[in-house]
Amino acid sequence: MKSNTMKGVGVVPQQKELRVIDHPEPSIEAPNELKIRTLEVGVCGTDREICTFAYGQPPAGGDYLLLGHECLGEVLEVGSGVKNFKPGDLVVPSVRRPCTDPNCRPCREGRQDFCVTWKFTERGINQRHGYMTERFVEEERFLTPVPKDLRDLAVMAEPLTIAEKGLTQAWQVQKRLTWAHDNRDGKGRGHGLNAVVLGAGPIGLLGAMKLLIEGFRVFVYSRSPKPNFKADIAEQIGAEYISNLQVSAEDLAKHIGNIDLIYEAVGEGHLTFDVMRVLGINGVYILTGIPAEKPPIPVYVDNIMRNITLKNQAIIGTVNASPQDFADAIHDLGEFKKRWPKAVQALITGRHKIDAHRELLVGKATGIKNVIEFGA
Ligand code: BGC
Ligand code: ZN
Repeated sequence: MKSNTMKGVGVVPQQKELRVIDHPEPSIEAPNELKIRTLEVGVCGTDREICTFAYGQPPAGGDYLLLGHECLGEVLEVGSGVKNFKPGDLVVPSVRRPCTDPNCRPCREGRQDFCVTWKFTERGINQRHGYMTERFVEEERFLTPVPKDLRDLAVMAEPLTIAEKGLTQAWQVQKRLTWAHDNRDGKGRGHGLNAVVLGAGPIGLLGAMKLLIEGFRVFVYSRSPKPNFKADIAEQIGAEYISNLQVSAEDLAKHIGNIDLIYEAVGEGHLTFDVMRVLGINGVYILTGIPAEKPPIPVYVDNIMRNITLKNQAIIGTVNASPQDFADAIHDLGEFKKRWPKAVQALITGRHKIDAHRELLVGKATGIKNVIEFGA
């Protein structure tokens, strides 16, 4: 009997090929699983990097990897043990899956984003197929429910989890500032503090929105001089946009005052370390970028080191994300929608059919967040 297949977008690394692949239709095999119909999948830098064959790995024994890790889906069927979902519900799946080592405490406690064996896998990236296909099966514990009125935005939940986790971690680190932790009369934990966001792509602009919700004064520091559409969005939400081609890091710091937090979303080492020099007193620097390896470059190491010590600075990396970060992302997309309905919509540059995959994955990167739609 010939098994049913469906269409997916994937890479065949051995042949250095990106193509539409006929992939077997999955079915529920355990009581805690659900079958989900893919609605939309976001395209991101990680996907584009996988298409250069510098990153990404097919599942063991297979020769292709289906792409896609930023997904919104609709539940089609539920296994007999599924408690919190029913057909028709909207869901966002997470990316990382735990390793199997019984001694890996983070993975055993559902915090595979902190896996200590580094034998985790990732859907659409690392040894597990992704969501750029018509249907997929997933366990209940890896899904976050989405209210129907976020149907238009929830595809951005996964990239927003990066900011959610980053900020949660930063606040934990800043608990060291024992006097600073009131909620500033309900004005948000960031009220009175200055934050710089490096980069104005989807991770940067979603991060800027999150920081504004938390009460920070926000400055988006990115390459392209004004006017440009990313700067327009930054200003619509109430951040100040500054081009690093026109204003140096020193002048940026003079303009702002003490920089309490920097959220890096450029994925580029030179700017990241240049701006590290101007992090403020007791400041925290959140790194989210995953640059491809390039030749070494000169950095003001003594200056940076002296500042880190004398100014009690903390530098933290963050890779997404916990189930709580996904729930927070869905919650905050709702807040963004109330506060900036037009700006948050404008982050989605275009919704495309599967035929556009090649242009989106290996063509020139355009816009902010491009999305591939599946099904009817
Ligand atoms: C994804 C993360 C993943 C990382 C590295 C990012 O694009 O959002 O979930 O861990 O790539 O593979
Ligand atoms: Zn991504």
